[in-house]
Amino acid sequence: MKILITGGAGFIGSNFVRFVLSRYPGYEVVNLDSLTYAGNLENLRDLEENDRHTFVKGDICDMTLLESLRFDSIIHFAAESHVDRSILDSSPFLRTNIGGTKNLLDLAKTRGLRMLHVSTDEVYGSISEGLFTEASPLSPNSPYAASKASSDLFVRAYHETYGVDAVITRCSNNYGPFQFPEKLIPLMIINALASKPLPVYGDGRNVRDWIHVLDHCRAVDMVFHKGRAGEVYNIGGRNEQQNIDIVSRILSSVSDVTGSDIAGLNGLITYVKDRPGHDRRYAIDPSKIESELGWRPTVGFENGIAETVRWYVGNRDWWGRITSGQYMKYYDVQYGRRLS
Ligand code: NAD
Ligand code: DAU
Repeated sequence: MKILITGGAGFIGSNFVRFVLSRYPGYEVVNLDSLTYAGNLENLRDLEENDRHTFVKGDICDMTLLESLRFDSIIHFAAESHVDRSILDSSPFLRTNIGGTKNLLDLAKTRGLRMLHVSTDEVYGSISEGLFTEASPLSPNSPYAASKASSDLFVRAYHETYGVDAVITRCSNNYGPFQFPEKLIPLMIINALASKPLPVYGDGRNVRDWIHVLDHCRAVDMVFHKGRAGEVYNIGGRNEQQNIDIVSRILSSVSDVTGSDIAGLNGLITYVKDRPGHDRRYAIDPSKIESELGWRPTVGFENGIAETVRWYVGNRDWWGRITSGQYMKYYDVQYGRRLS
């Protein structure tokens, strides 16, 4: 089996590529990633000598390139993924998340391939009580969420119209190693380590349902191999937390690991202007993947956060090269070419 994995130099994609290669000794991965600001080849350093992993620097919007690649199935992570960026400029979101997904669907259709589309719980919008199921209406509120909802509908339409063997996963908020430090958890960790302000949007009481990235990877693997064509599977950790509680937990872990004074760390918390259209609460019902495929999250939140804090403390070089911008040059060094 040779799988095309798109976005495999990003946070979840790089964790997934590593997961698949170690779990399936007979599988090969073609890892297609255009290395936007969020793509980082250093995430894949340990796979450089692995001859079952081929990295291709390229854009999912480039149909000619896609047609030149050979593989048996597609797992599609590549996306513009950050809500705040989508509020500043939605154009790249429209291009990659909708246009790129449509290209991959065309390939899956022409070649008769299975395609797993990695989506998000944000397509459902905000919910004040209860849980989103796969039957909940799509009601996206940010340009990012609207682009993901549009791509989900294209996947559905290609399955209904052309019989494409497609499945969709909708996961809640991920955390863990290699997450780009623009997202809440890594941003708070590295700012706390650098004694910088910790910007909490609004009143800090927005709720997200957090899941460790490896539990997400295991779920994607199960849906890819056993999910029914045309179906959607929610993935969530049944782990709702208010943002301010997440920040407090991170600070107490940072204090445990580094010995920094907790009062000083708490003093870094800075309430800032709210995100426009900020969804108040996400909460996902993962009963379907639990009962149909037997998936369950395995990483407890307390341990998962403590481990993640230790990872960022132990990998200052990794995020230091992101904050300095140096990581963008890694591809040049590895491949002897210049980035444009
Ligand atoms: P990320 O921003 O860390 O990584 C995205 C990757 O896609 C990067 O490596 C980037 O270079 C690549 N990419 C972007 N545009 C591309 C293009 N046109 N062609 C090829 N590659 C391109 O994102 P992530 O957090 O790892 O998210 C991965 C996927 O999972 C996304 O589809 C996202 O919507 C979804 N998701 C994320 C979360 C989360 O909490 N992070 C939760 C649910 C679903
Ligand atoms: O729910 C899944 C989604 O989770 C994914 O589809 C997205 O790709 C991913 O980015 C994430 O979206 P969020 O907007 O929920 O994640 P973010 O880390 O940006 O923010 C989490 C919460 O923390 C949110 O309520 C906004 C708040 N926040 C975020 C940042 C970056 C802050 O209070 N301060 C911050 O500096």
